[in-house]
Amino acid sequence: MVDVILGLQWGDEGKGKVVDYFASHYDIVARFQGGPNAGHTIYVNDKKIVLHQVPSGIFKPHSQNLIGNGVVLDAVSLKEECEAIASFGVDFRKSLLISDRTHLILPTHKALDKASELSKGNEKIGSTLKGIGPAYMDKTGRNGLRVGDIRNKNFVSNYIRLRLKHQKLLDNFSFNEDISAEEEKFFEALEFMRSLEIVSGEYFINDALSKGKKILAEGAQGSMLDIDFGTFPYVTSSTTIASGVCNGLGIAPNKIGTVTGVTKAYCTRVGGGPFPTELHDEDGELIRKKGNEFGATTGRPRRCGWIDLVALDYACMINGVSQLVMTKADVLDDLPVLKVCESYKIGGKETRQVPFQMDKLTIDPVYKSFKGWTSDISQINDYKKLPPEMLSYIDYINKKLGVQVKFISNGPGTEQLISAS
Ligand code: GDP
Ligand code: IMO
Ligand code: MG
Repeated sequence: MVDVILGLQWGDEGKGKVVDYFASHYDIVARFQGGPNAGHTIYVNDKKIVLHQVPSGIFKPHSQNLIGNGVVLDAVSLKEECEAIASFGVDFRKSLLISDRTHLILPTHKALDKASELSKGNEKIGSTLKGIGPAYMDKTGRNGLRVGDIRNKNFVSNYIRLRLKHQKLLDNFSFNEDISAEEEKFFEALEFMRSLEIVSGEYFINDALSKGKKILAEGAQGSMLDIDFGTFPYVTSSTTIASGVCNGLGIAPNKIGTVTGVTKAYCTRVGGGPFPTELHDEDGELIRKKGNEFGATTGRPRRCGWIDLVALDYACMINGVSQLVMTKADVLDDLPVLKVCESYKIGGKETRQVPFQMDKLTIDPVYKSFKGWTSDISQINDYKKLPPEMLSYIDYINKKLGVQVKFISNGPGTEQLISAS
């Protein structure tokens, strides 16, 4: 079976940490979508590393790590990431595999991302500018170059052809930054990539499944950033939800096992777009400070707000979430009052559904208030020892969502995860 760990909000839920915690129970960890827009933080021997494209199982001695076909891959960023991993004494060459069907992010994709965002003015998406959208556009437009193509003799001429096409688009945007230095780095990085293990990801995964191996699919971004079901157009360009595992790895739907949804005890978003429970007061500031809510990839401050059960309920529905992990519960330690959004008021009407175009509506969240626990929970490792106020906060969320919080994360350390059973 392929178990899945994915984010239920707008990303940065702590997926990297959760994958790191569970990875030792799996033979293979696989990324199925997204690219270097992701930033998954883990601690290895108390030293922090942020993974962007390499699956978070890379530090487990026994695990193989696959970058699946659904990912868009930046060779330059991959090379840098592999060098960072090697500095931890890990031989990534033994345990990292890349699907030959994975599409490449080209230097011009990054330029196009920038040009597109600039052209949008105030309505910009707030992209990480890693070239994600343009690379997926070339995939669906049937123009993109794939990892397997770098083995072909005509790769450079195909690259130049696509580059010329991109140049015309960049001219239309009146965008004329010199990217020759980046191109040089790109070709160097392709040389590096040729030395890695490139496989037919779909055969690799299905063969492993038939041998009874355990596979963990690691989601990137969050369900509310999904291209179809997120807060479009303020989304990323991939299928971030559980169904993306099938496309992004080449496995059948009946091979999906447990879907673990990761949610923060509150909510954050980085970049533009609607965020009904966003806080613009000192509570929001306190959460940002205590939670160190700054983007792992771009360093941008994350917008912070209360947990949103309307959006979470929606995310549980579209993902078929089997169990929840609640992260960053310790960040709420100092707040005397906590709020949970249980419905939206739109035009005087109350609803528990995520509307079609959130960004075009004025949404007033309807809150239920809870007494905070106002004590340090970061050293607790037994569920029964958690403060009663916290247990009633979780109990309420369990009941509202009809899905159980099975683990509570109370700190960034890998072992700071409390089982509720
Ligand atoms: P991801 O993209 O979902 O993997 O999440 P990020 O790594 O972008 O952001 C999560 C941040 O929260 C990282 O800095 C983690 O080290 C940190 N983190 C994860 N879980 C917890 C937790 O339970 N408590 C606290 N205080 N920090 C956490
Ligand atoms: P992880 O995996 C948080 C956001 C960007 C922007 C929008 C589109 O670490 O949770 P893109 O670069 O994809 O064109 O950006 O999506 N975004 C993320 N926000 N965590 C991420 O990844 C994100 N990846 C993209 O901020 O609003
Ligand atoms: Mg992140």
